[in-house]
Amino acid sequence: MTPVSTEEFKDAIRLAWDRSASGWNSHTPAIHRWLAAATAAMMDVARITEGMQVIDIAAGAGDQTLDIARRVGADGHVLATDISETILQFSKDNAQRAGLLQVETRVSDAEDLKVQPAGFDAAVCRLGLMFCPDPVQALRQMHRALKPGGHAAVLVFSEPQHNPLITILMATVLTHAGLGPRDPFQPGSLLSLGKPGLLEAHFRQAGFTAVTTSRIPAPFQLASARAYLDFVRTSASPIMQILGHLDPAAQEAAGAAKQERLDVFQTPEGWEGPNELLLAGGSKPAD
Ligand SMILES: C[S@@+](CC[C@H](N)C(=O)[O-])C[C@H]1O[C@@H](n2cnc3c(N)ncnc32)[C@H](O)[C@@H]1O
Repeated sequence: MTPVSTEEFKDAIRLAWDRSASGWNSHTPAIHRWLAAATAAMMDVARITEGMQVIDIAAGAGDQTLDIARRVGADGHVLATDISETILQFSKDNAQRAGLLQVETRVSDAEDLKVQPAGFDAAVCRLGLMFCPDPVQALRQMHRALKPGGHAAVLVFSEPQHNPLITILMATVLTHAGLGPRDPFQPGSLLSLGKPGLLEAHFRQAGFTAVTTSRIPAPFQLASARAYLDFVRTSASPIMQILGHLDPAAQEAAGAAKQERLDVFQTPEGWEGPNELLLAGGSKPAD
């Protein structure tokens, strides 16, 4: 792959999520079901309770932002941040529609948070940290944003072997693009933080103490493999970035191959694709 500067990488990721924003938002009901248990566990690890000030990093269309807002209640506050203004606008609209006035949004790169230091009781990031080319810097920014004694929690994908949907899609697309296999742990990529021990080490390097990690199964349930592929086509920008380079014939061939490999997860009750997440947490020591 051609090496790109961090700035080019960030521009590409911002553009990709601008384009996927509407698709991701329109799949909110399926995403909510997919991540409900993991999100509740993330809020528990970040020890989010009523009345707290919380920062939600890489908030996307705000599905977890709304859950957090309901937990902190009207006396609390949630600042939802994201690098893509387009997807963050959905967060803002969804919170307004839900009457959650305690939600505020701010466009901000996770690696350069535009917030005051020591302003938050808790910081969370659901499925966003792995897109940061420098995740330690993003964790340092979370640490800086927290009040002494505050807690952070992050959800990312675990190892490739526990996330066959991602590995199947990536392998099929790369084959049809005539490209060789990629390092699954390449920084900034979907599985980059799934390497055993890496996320814990990053948390410690960023200054967190009492670091914990756990694994959370998060099967994606939809009507069919075709419905999952529709989700990926409209919403999963990192995979579409590679697919976008294929000519229409290669795209069609890749689509058929993906569908065939994803059909194995069909059950009599519907389609259930396995995924596993890592939930990491840490504390900012009290002064
Ligand atoms: C998979 S979506 C997750 C959105 C949301 N947290 C959720 O779980 O529904 C990933 C999000 O990370 C955001 N993102 C990627 N790189 C980022 C960065 N460097 N800083 C802030 N947000 C970033 C994208 O714009 C996108 O909204």
